[in-house]
Amino acid sequence: MDRGVGFREFERKLEQERDSWRMRRKDSDDRKTYDEVFDRQNLMRIYKLFSDGVIDQIDYPISTGKEGNVFRATTSDGTPLALKIYRTSTATFKDMAKYIAGDPRFKGVSRNRRKLIMTWSSKEYRNLQRLHDAGVRVPVPVACHCNMIVMEFIGSDSGPAPMMKDVKLDSPVGVAEIILGHARRAYQKAEIVHGDLSEYNVLMNGDEPVIIDVGQSVLLEHPLADELLVRDMSNIARFFRRYGLSIDVERELREIRKR
Ligand SMILES: Nc1ncnc2c1ncn2[C@@H]1O[C@H](COP(=O)(O)OP(=O)(O)OP(=O)(O)O)[C@@H](O)[C@H]1O
Ligand SMILES: [Mg+2]
Repeated sequence: MDRGVGFREFERKLEQERDSWRMRRKDSDDRKTYDEVFDRQNLMRIYKLFSDGVIDQIDYPISTGKEGNVFRATTSDGTPLALKIYRTSTATFKDMAKYIAGDPRFKGVSRNRRKLIMTWSSKEYRNLQRLHDAGVRVPVPVACHCNMIVMEFIGSDSGPAPMMKDVKLDSPVGVAEIILGHARRAYQKAEIVHGDLSEYNVLMNGDEPVIIDVGQSVLLEHPLADELLVRDMSNIARFFRRYGLSIDVERELREIRKR
């Protein structure tokens, strides 16, 4: 779309796209969340991403989660991207505070719900940057604006990559090793603990596991860091048990904590 188009025209085009998603989705909960996501304020924010040339269009919804929605978008040169939009009325926002408190990067941040969501988004974005810089395979961060994060789209032309829980792994041993390697790199190089690592937050891009959803990830100095690390490792061990693998959690933890 021509970047010079005004807000009105942009809004009209987005409205058409939304109509086509609505037709495909009969679920009224989804419809409700779309109305919520595309309120006036978010429309203005999306328009900003558009007029800044970050995205050119929103293609289709990928996921409607508890806290936010993820869409596939494209740039003007056709590069696919993922756009994650946090909803301001999220029910789980209470939990967010405990992950933000204790993070020195966000000292003195307000408990106001709207501001907290913005802080949460920028926390997710900065965590992505830090992890990416340390060589952990996460979606490459592209931009962050208010409650919106733009990042690399993980998937192909035929759609987003599936979650690890939904695929049958051909080489579970190799995949487990790669994931544990990422967790170690996150801890030792990025000094970050994922905090919600499980088969739900690993996408399988073909054979390659990609770690997503790092909003709750914390720095090592965070009071919850160690507890979250143990939980992450136990989750991974539990998942791979279904493939008959036995991961020694205690040993992994010792390895990881050796900095
Ligand atoms: N970069 C990406 N590329 C492709 N798909 C993505 C990307 N990021 C997220 N998704 C899809 O969107 C879903 C939700 O993303 P994410 O886990 O980051 O959000 P969430 O807030 O945890 O949502 P939920 O409440 O559903 O767990 C993922 O399971 C995945 O299917
Ligand atoms: Mg998730």
